[in-house]
Amino acid sequence: MSKLTQLLCLADLSQEQVTHLLDLALEIKRDPDRFSTALKGRSIALLFEKPSLRTRVSFDVGIHKLGGHSVYLDQQNGALGVRESVEDFGSNLACWTDAIVARVYSQKTLVQLAQSSKKPVINALSDLYHPCQALADLLTLKEQYDDLSKVHLAFVGDGNNVCHSLMLGAAILGMTLTVVTPQGFGPDAHVLLKAQALAEQSGAKLTLSQHVSAAAGADAIYTDTWLSMGGRADPALIEKLFAPYQINTAVMQRLAVKHFMHCLPAHRGQEVTSEVLDSDCSLVLQQAENRMHAQNAVLVSLFS
Ligand code: CP
Ligand code: NVA
Repeated sequence: MSKLTQLLCLADLSQEQVTHLLDLALEIKRDPDRFSTALKGRSIALLFEKPSLRTRVSFDVGIHKLGGHSVYLDQQNGALGVRESVEDFGSNLACWTDAIVARVYSQKTLVQLAQSSKKPVINALSDLYHPCQALADLLTLKEQYDDLSKVHLAFVGDGNNVCHSLMLGAAILGMTLTVVTPQGFGPDAHVLLKAQALAEQSGAKLTLSQHVSAAAGADAIYTDTWLSMGGRADPALIEKLFAPYQINTAVMQRLAVKHFMHCLPAHRGQEVTSEVLDSDCSLVLQQAENRMHAQNAVLVSLFS
């Protein structure tokens, strides 16, 4: 198996690498003490262009648990690329840190950071992808179902970053994934092509629809905010377009879906009702906890 060198997009990983990361995450979750010096002497930059709760805290605490040190950088000293170029920022960060975890507006910024720093860069969410989230979600489903190739996941909502990474992850692992989006909010065409090519290799079944009924019989239904951070669409228009895609108790029952998933933060009463979010079928806190274990598996793999 080739060594993990960065994590910009799940499509860069083989099935063997993704499977290994999930198995390692389970091991770290079961026996964290065994990994308590994995990042000894390492410093990792946590660079955020956008707000975060889960990603920021799970990386910070996770790095600490692996014996490393993190440096948090937000935009309070000015936006990235203004005081100095992204490339100069990256090459300077590389003088002191061993890796860069970055949440950015554009996937291109991650590539610039990776090229200029020559250090591993981990995508902590961009316009296009959220690979750390998808790894945590796959880990959560693995804990529930064990054999992911037998799992049917349905994503209902905006076909952007989180949806894209789930498509790639599901395609790599040979899962069944139904993606339901309103017209005009489907996945990016290039990402779809990538996912379809990966699905062909793995035997994954990828279906796109504009009808929530396509999610019937799925093991889990997953949704995300209707308006992503940095999104410029009119919130009133979005609310009207997305209203038929709300996940509520009636939808869960009608579609006979067992589990509910969400990357969070949730907008109660919009993409999901509190009744579903807080119900026994909701896996959202398991997903949130698993962010740390999945990311720690990535970090351990990068530095082992
Ligand atoms: N799911 C997720 O990435 O949460 P944060 O935006 O709080 O980091
Ligand atoms: N699609 C959401 C995910 C947040 C974790 C966003 O980009 O804001």
